[in-house]
Amino acid sequence: MIKISPSLLACDFSNIADEIRKVETAGADMLHLDVMDGHFVPNITFGAPVIKSIHKCSELPLDVHLMISEPLKYISDFVNAGADIITFHAESQSNIMKTILKIKEFGKKVGISIKPKTDTKILFPYLKYIDVVLVMTVEPGFGGQKFMENQLEKVLILKKEAQKNNLDFEIELDGGINTKTIETVKNYPVDICVSGNCIFGSEDVGSTINKLKLR
Ligand code: DX5
Ligand code: ZN
Repeated sequence: MIKISPSLLACDFSNIADEIRKVETAGADMLHLDVMDGHFVPNITFGAPVIKSIHKCSELPLDVHLMISEPLKYISDFVNAGADIITFHAESQSNIMKTILKIKEFGKKVGISIKPKTDTKILFPYLKYIDVVLVMTVEPGFGGQKFMENQLEKVLILKKEAQKNNLDFEIELDGGINTKTIETVKNYPVDICVSGNCIFGSEDVGSTINKLKLR
């Protein structure tokens, strides 16, 4: 089974508590929260105060995806807001090792994400310290984009490196995942899939999540 992390970016924010309940009962494994600062990516979403409110509505682990230029500055804010997994971008301006250590200091899970044009190899020195690698399958910034199949090669590169060095981080994919594209994804050793528009745009969230989950 693949763990499913619905991206709340695609939900009805005027009804967020109901939207969360809906995916919770439908079998979501965690909630994916896309934080954008209008600088690292050309879009602005929400920050720690909104995550704090979401934390009050759900028991699910909060999978926070920071698309911000200086993640290191804000780690403690996201920890206090209730984040369980904190994923930042390797392309951000913060020092990667310092950011990993900061997240670990709070006992939270560490994720690092790479954009489609970034070489997987830049992650190699850090793989032994982290819990999750988030491979972007769209350019970060917006939901509802087309899945980039050519990014799947990165999953194999990461898996090979994990086996070679006996590492056990999880591999997460984010962007353009729906009930069609998931069929290709299922041929790869992926642990977690984010999905926004496909889940929140679905009439039957339960069966959609099941289709995404089952290998
Ligand atoms: C894109 C975000 C994604 C996005 C996924 O920058 O990181 O998490 O919300 O949405 P869909 O599944 O609609 O592509
Ligand atoms: Zn995301």
